[in-house]
Amino acid sequence: MNDLDLLVQSAETDFSAAATPADLENAKARFLGKTGRVTELLKGMAALSVEEKKTRGAEINGVKQRIEAALTARRQALADAELQAQLKAEALDVTLPGRARGQGGLHPVSRSLERIEQIFGSMGFDVADGPEIEEDWYNFTALNTPEDHPARSMHDTFYVEGGKLLRTHTSPMQVRYAMQHVKKYAGAKSMPEIRVIAPGRTYRVDSDATHSPMFHQCEGLWIGENVSFKDLRSVFTDFLRQFFEADDLVIRFRPSFFPFTEPSAEVDIAFQSGPLKGRWLEVAGSGQVHPNVVRNFGLDPERYIGFAFGMGPDRLTMLRYGVNDLRQFFDGDLRFLSQFR
Ligand code: DAH
Repeated sequence: MNDLDLLVQSAETDFSAAATPADLENAKARFLGKTGRVTELLKGMAALSVEEKKTRGAEINGVKQRIEAALTARRQALADAELQAQLKAEALDVTLPGRARGQGGLHPVSRSLERIEQIFGSMGFDVADGPEIEEDWYNFTALNTPEDHPARSMHDTFYVEGGKLLRTHTSPMQVRYAMQHVKKYAGAKSMPEIRVIAPGRTYRVDSDATHSPMFHQCEGLWIGENVSFKDLRSVFTDFLRQFFEADDLVIRFRPSFFPFTEPSAEVDIAFQSGPLKGRWLEVAGSGQVHPNVVRNFGLDPERYIGFAFGMGPDRLTMLRYGVNDLRQFFDGDLRFLSQFR
């Protein structure tokens, strides 16, 4: 290998050792720059004869071209490497699952509440809303449950300051709504019947598979001059058959006790088909509104009479969807809830 070949080889070695474009430009200067080795060779020709200049000149030009070719190749290689690095850094993994927009839906108990409101609405019942932090008087006393009444102990609840408590049932809404209604028609020739449901949250110190410290109730009240237990039976049967979409569902009244109704009854239902066929299931408490309560509404119990009921929308929802643990409704687990979308 002659000195020119060695020069080309050493340029090639330097170029491939250059890791960056700046390194490469420095290496280029060492060979092709003003004081570079190729330039030095050309300068060294001054002393040669014309003939020698021709051959030596052609040889040096050949060297120059080979070095330039090596330079271009290395430049390209560095640019390619940089592009590859950049592509790699900005890589998108198209196999990652995308961020889909979650689809929301109504809570199963909210669905039931809407259903209850819709069905009773179609039967001419108003829908009322009231405070969850309730006064003792509305929650107990006005409902014929004085302070020393044993029924109070079954409604152990959360008391807050100022003699208020988290309502243990939606029954106080009977009193609130009826009093407002009476006030509204005070002085009028006649008073329209009171027909209302009041769904909402209620609270008790209770927690197991069928009880939650917070649960839902829906109160119903129908007061007029001629409203009887028979009406309660037909309204409730209609409602339950529509709610469960079961035309052959049957109901029975089982004697019970509530301070605010006399007589009082639990309402049981039985399906004629499906997984719960033939079993009696309790769904509500009910009864003819006690004269003391009617009096607290501001009405004369000799003239006005009617019935009330209180049902558990949570329980109705469990029966409708076959859920066996009430707590699932309130755990907020999307795997459970999204089944009702
Ligand atoms: N408030 C009662 C409870 O929580 C349920 C109830 C029973 C409501 C009879 C009523 C009724 O309106 O008439 O256990």
